[in-house]
Amino acid sequence: MNTASSLLNEFRSIFGTAKTPRTFFAPGRINLIGEHTDYNGGHVFPASISYGTYALGMKRDDSKIRFYSMNFPDVGVIECDLSDLAFDTSHKWANYPKGMFLFMKEAGCSISHGADILYYGNIPHGAGLSSSASIELATGVLLNGLFDLNMEHVPMIKLGQKVENEYIGLNSGIMDQFAIGMGKKDHAILLNCSTLEYKYAPVVLNDHVILIINTNKRRDLAGSKYNERRTQCEAALSDLQKERSIKSLGELTIGEFDAYQHLIRNDINRKRARHAVYENARTLDALEKLREGDLIGFGKLMNESHLSLKHDYEVTGLELDTIVETAWEQQGVLGARMTGAGFGGCAIAIVEKERADDVKKSIYAVYRETVGYEPAFYTAKISDGAKEIEKGAFI
Ligand code: GLA
Repeated sequence: MNTASSLLNEFRSIFGTAKTPRTFFAPGRINLIGEHTDYNGGHVFPASISYGTYALGMKRDDSKIRFYSMNFPDVGVIECDLSDLAFDTSHKWANYPKGMFLFMKEAGCSISHGADILYYGNIPHGAGLSSSASIELATGVLLNGLFDLNMEHVPMIKLGQKVENEYIGLNSGIMDQFAIGMGKKDHAILLNCSTLEYKYAPVVLNDHVILIINTNKRRDLAGSKYNERRTQCEAALSDLQKERSIKSLGELTIGEFDAYQHLIRNDINRKRARHAVYENARTLDALEKLREGDLIGFGKLMNESHLSLKHDYEVTGLELDTIVETAWEQQGVLGARMTGAGFGGCAIAIVEKERADDVKKSIYAVYRETVGYEPAFYTAKISDGAKEIEKGAFI
């Protein structure tokens, strides 16, 4: 396990300095409900978690930037210059922070010098808990701090999404960056993705915990399938727009969708749009259930969300279905669903604390038997969004 002093020692040894850098942290996220609704102008309900990315950084006197990740030691130190921040395949993971440098500069931030930055992330790799958005926002708050930029979190969040969309080439929505930038300990965020209006809702689970279950599945084609889903929703929207003046699927109620769905010419696109509209309604319902302390009702909505992602959106697959459907059969589980983009990644379940070990054992056994390898389990602690870490406050 890494501690504050081991990161500091690593920084000093990699960059050959005795000085003390500043330390920033950006969490990962889970999404309680509201999946594939963000780029459809609907609502999402994510929360930031205590796993995340540490970024230790120091300004340099010249314009050189050096990046190092303790998660990819074989890649070594990646160097570039403030004057050339173009995407470069050979820079691998460092394209995420490079993109942030570029877009923050383009947004008018006065980043006058280069920097040495060391990253360490404890978000399980490829788990769909938003490690890339976490690196983006860790870089954002670091640049904000080192260069006294006074940038608000929301514009920084938008630049993080721009990095995904325009620099990396994934047409993702705003959810991940928003959850990571605006997270609040023990709260989930109900976000309207078309207006960016948001509300915090306390997550009070009494004697329950949120279990995160990782499929450990490799997600090689996830990016292209994700972009395909988005295109299908856009095609459905454009069919609906022939008779309805709407800007996004998120504007439709369930009743309106049912009345106009015949306008969507392609069967697959119609299913995708149905998910987006019904999921948005479920997400608004879920906020009410949580506020009323109705965890049973909340859990049911999670289950419905998973079924819709399985049958209408078709982003679950054997691994996530095995975990979620096994969870549903266990005593003490109020609800379970995939979280994030799907195609692998993680599921979440609301589980009675006392029964959590038994639930894990059952899921582990069925998953090994059905899928052939092991899942992994973590307990989610909902923590604050991206920020500088005071000395001694290392998570
Ligand atoms: C990924 C994307 C988000 C969102 C989810 C699905 O995490 O980055 O913008 O679309 O998938 O809800």
